[in-house]
Amino acid sequence: MSVNRQWLLKERPKGMLSEEHFEYRETEIPTILDGEVLVKTSTLGFDPMQRGLVMDRESYIPPVGLGEVMKGSAAGQVVESKNDNFKVGDIVQGFGGWQDYFVSGADSPMPVSKLPQGVTPEMALGVLGVTGLTAYIGILELGAPKAGDTVLVSGAAGATGSVAGQIAKLEGCRVVGIAGGAEKCAWLTEQAGFDTAIDYKNEDVAAKVREHCPDGLDVYFDNVGGEILQAALNNLAMNARVVLCGGISGYNEEVPPPGPNNLMNLIGTRSTMEGYIIIDYLDRMPEFQKAMGQWLQEGKVVHLDDIQEGFENIPATLMRLFTGKNMGKQMLKITGD
Ligand SMILES: NC(=O)c1ccc[n+]([C@@H]2O[C@H](COP(=O)([O-])OP(=O)(O)OC[C@H]3O[C@@H](n4cnc5c(N)ncnc54)[C@H](OP(=O)(O)O)[C@@H]3O)[C@@H](O)[C@H]2O)c1
Repeated sequence: MSVNRQWLLKERPKGMLSEEHFEYRETEIPTILDGEVLVKTSTLGFDPMQRGLVMDRESYIPPVGLGEVMKGSAAGQVVESKNDNFKVGDIVQGFGGWQDYFVSGADSPMPVSKLPQGVTPEMALGVLGVTGLTAYIGILELGAPKAGDTVLVSGAAGATGSVAGQIAKLEGCRVVGIAGGAEKCAWLTEQAGFDTAIDYKNEDVAAKVREHCPDGLDVYFDNVGGEILQAALNNLAMNARVVLCGGISGYNEEVPPPGPNNLMNLIGTRSTMEGYIIIDYLDRMPEFQKAMGQWLQEGKVVHLDDIQEGFENIPATLMRLFTGKNMGKQMLKITGD
């Protein structure tokens, strides 16, 4: 391939993000300077926070400018190197964005790193990478589950929620998952070892949370916010921990939806509610990868990778996160070359 295909941000969305907000461009393959490497992307990882990157507001990752390549995590192969730490053929991951080729150097905001031996790009972008770390830190550090606790997880069949719930099971908890649709709920109870699952698209979540958690929740791992957070806050046990990992139900809303009106329940139950951003915990990656590597090897944690194909399908693949089409970690393999 002699060109660098790219997807650029064309327009900032108002409300629901769609494929129309991106445009396709072909440009020259970039050249590299001393200290840099050129990476050919093979696999992209998708994350709901990419919805925030298309807005013109400062965040822990600077937003994408209009006409700039859409940002996102990527794995691929070094095809040219002027950096002694990398050689041609190394498999690396970084934040290369939606393009065939990207340059990384020591001064890049998120320089590439080599994948450990035996770790595939899919694992690095998913269960053994930042996604898995998010679940691990959120549930263990902030959720602090104890054996016998009742743990509720929303977005439970997604990349982060499915791992958080399984880690809680390993800690000896009773784990209830909330997900959209019968297929996802069946996977949670039949494959991922959740004790029970609530299909929020077809069941009354508030009633089902009360039914499945009769003594209240000790931990709620929240990926979605909105009405599901409200239902969880209505069923807290004493000294419960509410972990705010994400609030995807509001990400495509023009005006942020009103917050829960039952925060007083935190007071009566002496509970805590705490948010976190995983980049503050990246130094815990080696410890996490050791633990997760062992759980995967022993079959104690299962994971799903939802892998789409084709450069032309990149924008549509991001939308899958917001329509709930993905099961497990959303990725895309760039094919055709
Ligand atoms: N704090 C951090 O540092 C951090 C880091 C990474 C991710 N996160 C957050 O973690 C959450 C999960 O991310 P992920 O990468 O693992 O994605 P994911 O759960 O694999 O995919 C997103 C899922 O969200 C659900 N969803 C979409 N719209 C929804 C709505 N309106 N109401 C309820 N559920 C909805 C869908 O599942 P259903 O079919 O079940 O609806 C969809 O599959 C996100 O909120 C993300 O922002 C936080």
